[in-house]
Formats: sequence, structure tokens, C-alpha cells
Amino acid sequence: MTDRPYAEATARNAAPILEILKREFRDSQRVLEIGSGTGQHAVAFAAILDHLHWQTSDLDENHAGINAWVGASQLENVSAPLSIDVRTADVAVDSYDAVYSSNTAHIMGIDAVETMFSLVGNALRVDGVFCLYGPFRCNGQFNAQSNADFDTNLRGRDPAMGIRDLEALDEFAAVNSLRRRRLYAVPSNNYVAVWRKTGDPIT
Ligand SMILES: C[S@@+](CC[C@H](N)C(=O)[O-])C[C@H]1O[C@@H](n2cnc3c(N)ncnc32)[C@H](O)[C@@H]1O
Repeated sequence: MTDRPYAEATARNAAPILEILKREFRDSQRVLEIGSGTGQHAVAFAAILDHLHWQTSDLDENHAGINAWVGASQLENVSAPLSIDVRTADVAVDSYDAVYSSNTAHIMGIDAVETMFSLVGNALRVDGVFCLYGPFRCNGQFNAQSNADFDTNLRGRDPAMGIRDLEALDEFAAVNSLRRRRLYAVPSNNYVAVWRKTGDPIT
């Protein structure tokens, strides 16, 4: 049996994110998580938000750890991970009411971020919501020196990684009929950005 992987930051940020999801996913039932990572968020959120069915997903290399968390939780409303690489995956149209992803946009290359928004636009029904947690640059500015340093560190490790401009994410969203409706500031200089799927193209 695989030990459950544990990320301290993921444990720490779960409570403030949960407060936002209580509000944003209030009218949702079917949730897809992209890049579930350790699986900690999935079980923490599904345990409290028991009106939801939480579908985990990630690259295959993370499935054993996610399965370990899902199995140990014994929750009936969280499912074993789907193999979703946002660069290549197909998800059935209108199959989810909500999509959640945490700390993924600065890890994926920008092309993958763009295809993630395309996947989300397809997967969500009209009025469905996408909540994306992480650090973002707004109006070309970092909100903290620690995030500027983090960005330099990421790009040094891999030039494809880096903290994304919120305005660029809004552009990827708009071509997929997703309009941003909120931006929550949360601890550690991070945000939860929330887009809603509209019934009409956004011009
Ligand atoms: C920093 S970890 C965040 C994990 C978790 N969401 C959390 O907040 O603890 C980034 C995650 O993005 C996933 N990821 C990276 N590239 C991806 C891609 N192309 N498609 C789907 N997931 C990807 C990784 O496998 C990893 O689980």
C-alpha cells in the first residue's frame, strides 16, 4: 500500500480555500479537480462539502498517492483519479458543474495553461464555475517580493514555468466563454480566481 504523500503548504491553505468553495460551489454537484497532486485537498474538501461529488485527476505518476488518500478517507463522494493531462485530455462536454485546480498554472507551461482553459470551457455546463488557486501577477505587478523571488526560482528550474498574469488567464478564459466574476485574496499572497461559464461567446 502506498503511503499518503503530504505537502505542508497544501494542508495549510485548505481552510481558507474551503471557505471560498463553500460559497462558490454552493449550487454545484459534480466537481472535477485538475492536478490533484497529493490528493489532500480532494478529501479535505469532499469531507465537508458533502453535497458534491469530487472527481480527482492528475498525470498518472500521482495516482498512487491520490488513491491512498481517497482510500483512507472512506468517503463515498470522492473518486479515484482520472488520467488527465490538460495538453491532451478530452473531457465530455457539459459534464461538470464546477472545476477546481490549485497551484497548477505556474507549474504547467503556458501552452498547457491555455489548453486547461479550453478543457474547462468544454467540461463546464453553462453557469458552471472554475476556481483556480495560486499566485498570480495582476497589472504586471507581483503582490509580494516573495512571489517575485518564487517566479525567478521557477524560471531558473524550468523556463516554461512561472507565475502567470491574471489578464492572460482572463484572455484564455474569454475565448472559452468563461468570464471572471471574483478574485479572492487569501493568505500567503495567493488568490482564488473564479470564472463562470456564460451561455454566449465573450467579445
Ligand atoms: C504544485 S503541484 C499542486 C498539486 C495540488 N493541486 C496542490 O495544490 O497541492 C502541481 C500539479 O500540477 C500537475 N500537472 C502538471 N502539469 C500538468 C498537466 N499538463 N496536466 C495536468 N496536471 C498537470 C502536477 O502533476 C501536480 O499534481
